[in-house]
Order: sequence, then C-alpha cells, then structure tokens
Amino acid sequence: MGLVAKELRKSIGNPAVEILKGLSFAIEDGEFVALTGRSGSGKSTLLYLLSTLDPPTSGEVEIGGIATNRLDSRELHRFRNEKMGYVFQFHYLLPELSALENVLMPARKGGRENEMRGHALDLLREFGLHEKSDRLPRQLSGGEQQRVAIARALVMNPRYLFADEPTGSLDSVNGEKVMSIFQDVNRRLGTTVVMVTHDPEFASRAKRAIHLVDGRLATPT
Ligand SMILES: Nc1ncnc2c1ncn2[C@@H]1O[C@H](COP(=O)(O)OP(=O)(O)OP(=O)(O)O)[C@@H](O)[C@H]1O
Ligand SMILES: [Mg+2]
Repeated sequence: MGLVAKELRKSIGNPAVEILKGLSFAIEDGEFVALTGRSGSGKSTLLYLLSTLDPPTSGEVEIGGIATNRLDSRELHRFRNEKMGYVFQFHYLLPELSALENVLMPARKGGRENEMRGHALDLLREFGLHEKSDRLPRQLSGGEQQRVAIARALVMNPRYLFADEPTGSLDSVNGEKVMSIFQDVNRRLGTTVVMVTHDPEFASRAKRAIHLVDGRLATPT
C-alpha cells in the first residue's frame, strides 16, 4: 500500500507563495527513497507533508491505505508515534535526559517504557553506544548524539523512517555510519526510508531518487 502523495500543494505566507506545486507519486512499502534537489526546491516542505508533521494546503497523503488528513489530532499523534520515525539534521535530544532515556521517549509516550527498555539498549549496543547509555547528550560527540536520535526514531519499530539531511552536520566517517544504519534497517526490517540529502554519494545509495525542481517533480515516478 505504501505512501501515496496526491496532488500535493503547499502555499506559505501572506501574500501566499506556492512552494509545492501539485505533486503526485507513490512510494512502495520497503523502498529507500532519496529526496533531492537544490536548496529551496521544497525538499523539507515535502518531507514534512509526507510524514504528516505539516498539513498540505490541498491534496492528500495516504499512508498504508489511510488518508491521513482524515485523522483527528489524537489519532494522528498515535499514528506517528507507532508507525513513523523521524531524524533531523540537528538531533533535538532532550539535554537533561540520558541517552537511554532519550531513546525511550516515544515508548514512554505510549506507556511502554519498561517493555521497550531491552530493545532500546539493543539499539544503543548496535550503534556502539552501549557503554554510554547513561550519559547526557552534552557528554557525547555529535556523531554519537545523532546515533542516539536514530535509536530514538527506531525504538517503536516504525514502518516508515523520515530523515531530513541526517548526515548534514556530521563528518564523512559519521555520515557513513548513519547511512549504513539506514541501509541496514531498510534491508533487514523492510522499513520504508525517505531521506532528504544534498550528498550525491548518499543519494546514489538509495534505491530511487525523487528529484524536485522549484516545487515540482523533475523525473517521472
Ligand atoms: N515558513 C516559511 N515561510 C516562507 N517561505 C518558506 C517557509 N518555509 C520555507 N519557505 C520557502 O519555501 C521554499 C522551499 O523550502 P524548503 O525548506 O522546503 O527547501 P529545501 O529544498 O529543503 O532547501 P534546503 O536544501 O536549503 O534545506 C524556499 O524557497 C523557502 O524559502
Ligand atoms: Mg531543507
């Protein structure tokens, strides 16, 4: 069923400027898609719409057969928390919580913190952070903080993983680690990955690119 964008438009500001100009495409379950395009072409705006963090001005996003614009805000919160993982360029970890507590935040919201603790520790171990699970974010390197944020995005075993320039603030070694984690999650768990990236090397590792030019699709999809 996957993720279907139908005639998505987004206008912002007053007077309104149209940033996304009628986008329609489908992403199959289990795909790894890179969203590419020049700065200002609308990649982040599109990712927010696809991941339900922001509503379109018109058009619709259907995920797993569900028309997300018909969910009320409570249903939408729950849907996001259970089905979607989010990774941004800056990790937005809570500074007063340990790495483990940050990873468990989505589980805590769903009242499943204890149930998910073992899984959270497994993810931290997998990402080379097992010894550091009690550290605060400021006691971790930038690359380590981003891996904590990825563990947080994965702790609920989401079907969809959305990322906006997840390697953007990292050096090449740490960027590479992030990419391997994404590829592994996609291959091993079949998680659908939608990732915005500027980096042609990283984009080429996705199975497909959706390329934006000035708010429109550049390639037939
Ligand atoms: N809140 C806003 N108000 C007005 N214009 C906005 C707003 N957010 C984005 N825009 C404009 O919409 C366009 C698309 O922005 P968007 O952030 O989606 O681009 P992007 O492709 O992600 O760029 P980058 O690669 O620099 O992150 C840009 O021209 C931007 O200036
Ligand atoms: Mg952007």
